[in-house]
Amino acid sequence: MKVLVLGSGGREHAIAWRLRQSPSVSQVYVAPGNPGCAGVAECLTLDSTTPEGFLALARRTGIDLTVVGPEAPLVDGVVDLFVSKGLLIFGPAQTAAQLEGSKIFSKRFMERAGIPTARFISTDDLSSAKEALGQFTYPVVVKADGLAAGKGVVICPDRQTAEATLDGMFSGALVGAAGAKVVIEEYLTGEEVSFIGLSDGERVLPLEPSQDHKTINENDEGPNTGGMGAYSDSRIITAEQREFIMREVMDRTVQHMKAEGTPFKGFLYAGLMMTARGPMVLEFNVRLGDPETQALLHRMDCDFGALLYEAARGQVRPELLKFKADPSVCVVLAAHGYPGKVRTGDAISGIEQAEQTGATVFHAGTKMAGGKLVTSGGRVLGVTRSGKTLQEAIDNTYRACDQISFDGMQIRRDIGRKGLKRWGPQTMKAGG
Ligand SMILES: Nc1ncnc2c1ncn2[C@@H]1O[C@H](COP(=O)(O)OP(=O)(O)O)[C@@H](O)[C@H]1O
Ligand SMILES: [Mg+2]
Repeated sequence: MKVLVLGSGGREHAIAWRLRQSPSVSQVYVAPGNPGCAGVAECLTLDSTTPEGFLALARRTGIDLTVVGPEAPLVDGVVDLFVSKGLLIFGPAQTAAQLEGSKIFSKRFMERAGIPTARFISTDDLSSAKEALGQFTYPVVVKADGLAAGKGVVICPDRQTAEATLDGMFSGALVGAAGAKVVIEEYLTGEEVSFIGLSDGERVLPLEPSQDHKTINENDEGPNTGGMGAYSDSRIITAEQREFIMREVMDRTVQHMKAEGTPFKGFLYAGLMMTARGPMVLEFNVRLGDPETQALLHRMDCDFGALLYEAARGQVRPELLKFKADPSVCVVLAAHGYPGKVRTGDAISGIEQAEQTGATVFHAGTKMAGGKLVTSGGRVLGVTRSGKTLQEAIDNTYRACDQISFDGMQIRRDIGRKGLKRWGPQTMKAGG
């Protein structure tokens, strides 16, 4: 089977890497991919990243199954187009992708379906938004309705900041058109967990839980990024929490989406806050997370291609999904200036040495220039490895990171520390 992966980041490198090891897959293509993807797959150049551009490419290459990495093509309707032309693709249709594409759609859906989430109001009018602030205490959360590449959510400590944020949203100054409508919601406290399910539209299979590290600095300080690292360990949630999330979030979402005539097929990602009131959904994404995918797929122990093929054809097969017990860690190496104005073109060295220690280095913001590998984006690499214990996985991963260098490299040294705090450094093996 020939499989095409759409996208160009660390997540897509990890998907291609895992597919390459799938017995059911004979050839992996990535469009457009990156220099790391080129090591495990054939990278295809694209005329355009529109659904039509992807379709033309898939047809020309004789692709049997297409897997979509990022959200934008899904929200643009790439799945609808492929399906209408009889091509197999794994991901949600455009209407179902609204779960991520519109925060208002998502919050209203959760309200209708009875899925636990923060109390909210939504509006497309500045003065009613300001008036609605009176119904909340501080801090309060203001969210742009549309896709905003991780820049559409502002936690406002006081009324003045909230009003200024609303001004910026509605004027377009903050996130452009994405801020023309907003959600204002109650601030929740607790630990954040990423929980991803794989759905065929009727049933949903749980992947292992993971935790992202959003801020640029250690101890969750500084501005938010796309994610500076992640780890996956079965014990991030208890068996009871897992059961609750499956019943009240995953199954409930898939059942209600089907009942409403917009069945959800694809990866359903719930960003959860583990509050004192139980797990609550902060947001849905309609694809795998980045960098959670790098850690998750590193632990995966099954034929990923076969799993996705069956799900795309309409049936998830639980017996095709398996994970290793060992926890895994992905540490992101970011470029100078990130998450602000990023400097590019810095020469990267030491990837081979890092891989010799046993780690896998996923590329995100890299490119070849004059025969040398250089930085080309904010998040440059994702160094990934597992271990018998979380402590061992962390130590293994940082040992590999220390082999790599480029000017201005930024690294958080505390990826996975939350897990260690919870379980202590002498942790038992996951699942043990
Ligand atoms: N209701 C909330 N209470 C507390 N923090 C929140 C809330 N909603 C979002 N956040 C914080 O903001 C981050 C981004 O919000 P999210 O809804 O995931 O939007 P996006 O990923 O599209 O930027 C979350 O990871 C979380 O840290
Ligand atoms: Mg999020």
